[in-house]
Amino acid sequence: MLDNLELPDNDRPVYLRLADAIGERIASGKLVEGDKLPPHREIARVLGINVTTVTRAFSALQQRGLVEARPGRGTRIASRETEEGSFKSAPSDEAGLIDLSINRPPTTAYRDALATLLPRLAKDRRFGSLQDYHPPEGPAWARATMAAWLDGIAGDGDASRVVLTDGAQHGLACVLRAVAQPGDIILADSITYQGISALSRSQGLDLRGLPMDRGGMRPDAFERACTTLRPRAVFLVPSLHNPTTITLSEERRRALAAIARRHNVLIIEDDVYRPLLDTVIPSFASMEPELTIHISCLSKCIAPGLRYGVVVAPRAVLGHVAAALRIDCWSISPLTALVATNLLEDGTTTRIIEFQREELRRRQAILRDVLASFDVQTDETSTHAWLHLPEPWRGAAFARACRQRGVGVLPADAFAIGRETLTHAVRINLGAAPSPAELRQALSIIADLLNAGHLEVSGAV
Ligand SMILES: Cc1ncc(COP(=O)(O)O)c(C=O)c1O
Repeated sequence: MLDNLELPDNDRPVYLRLADAIGERIASGKLVEGDKLPPHREIARVLGINVTTVTRAFSALQQRGLVEARPGRGTRIASRETEEGSFKSAPSDEAGLIDLSINRPPTTAYRDALATLLPRLAKDRRFGSLQDYHPPEGPAWARATMAAWLDGIAGDGDASRVVLTDGAQHGLACVLRAVAQPGDIILADSITYQGISALSRSQGLDLRGLPMDRGGMRPDAFERACTTLRPRAVFLVPSLHNPTTITLSEERRRALAAIARRHNVLIIEDDVYRPLLDTVIPSFASMEPELTIHISCLSKCIAPGLRYGVVVAPRAVLGHVAAALRIDCWSISPLTALVATNLLEDGTTTRIIEFQREELRRRQAILRDVLASFDVQTDETSTHAWLHLPEPWRGAAFARACRQRGVGVLPADAFAIGRETLTHAVRINLGAAPSPAELRQALSIIADLLNAGHLEVSGAV
């Protein structure tokens, strides 16, 4: 069963190389569900390594979901029924896994800025107000700073159109509750940010995916859906789209906006990646301010742990968004608002964004270097890469094969609306690797897998 087992020749610790070698046998179908692995001691003897090294390798395999250990039954190959499509937001602490499936910025600049800021926060003139409740829209001083940050993008610096939220997902939840009733149809790209699917399900909304091309949502499909389905709103991620990384061109934006106006369909513009963009491109909120609800946050450009977001909405909608937020939590934490406001006011945000963009460019160069010969859709300052898989790979099988080799990626299925879509791609988050070196290592594992071709691992799919 483990005959002729050879450890891969690389710099990883021995226990991980052993886990990878066994993972490889599972991927290739040489080991199948229910097979019992030999005792630790025997493997240690055959390979001439320590028993504790084998024990660590087995626990790494267990964390990868590849084996199960039961008292009295030894260790067996686990069932393959894992949910590759499910996604998680928090980083994994799984030993040896380079998890590029989560979504996080590429630097720890926020932590350093926070360490400098916190000791002086008590001297801030607004500190005293931290012990009070605040209006549902958020503290007036925080709204003013946020409105200034979004001036020209959403609103014209007018703080009265701003509602502060605990991040963009919270903003999106409040917006959907404010504008849609159960059963209402919401349109979105057929492959899109998973948060909208989860919210739509929980609020009884009828989310419909529309066909895309490499420029984003297809205007002809949008027009047709507006005519036949009478949707309440369209959800768009116009800049560095998650997961496909597409930025809608100005022309495409104008075409979609014109259709929305003709059919009086609200535009929910989730523009959380805009601060990372290289190009200045008009937002839907600037083109159609009375039809667009703009959502942003500091999660993608500063840090998700900050939990700070914003909704800028037409006046007719704004009160409903604030009322929805009030039901959740009265208002967001003023402490978070004070931290974020300081970072925005003293220029730290601008500096961190520039730093993140530089690091992303560096990581994109590694990506270009390692995956040059494959069809990768991305952007110079995107934290994501969307890898179109060569025939006959499918997303879930490829994600599983990567995981068996110690790399986490997310298959297209995790982002698909409905069940029709047959996109064979995976999302790779470049920012999630702890270091550029680990990114290169993980991408090399992906490249090796692609180069090996599907036949080598055909038993896995
Ligand atoms: C398009 C999009 N919108 C919203 C969010 C959620 O942002 P937040 O962490 O601020 O809730 C994400 C996070 O991945 C995202 O990609």
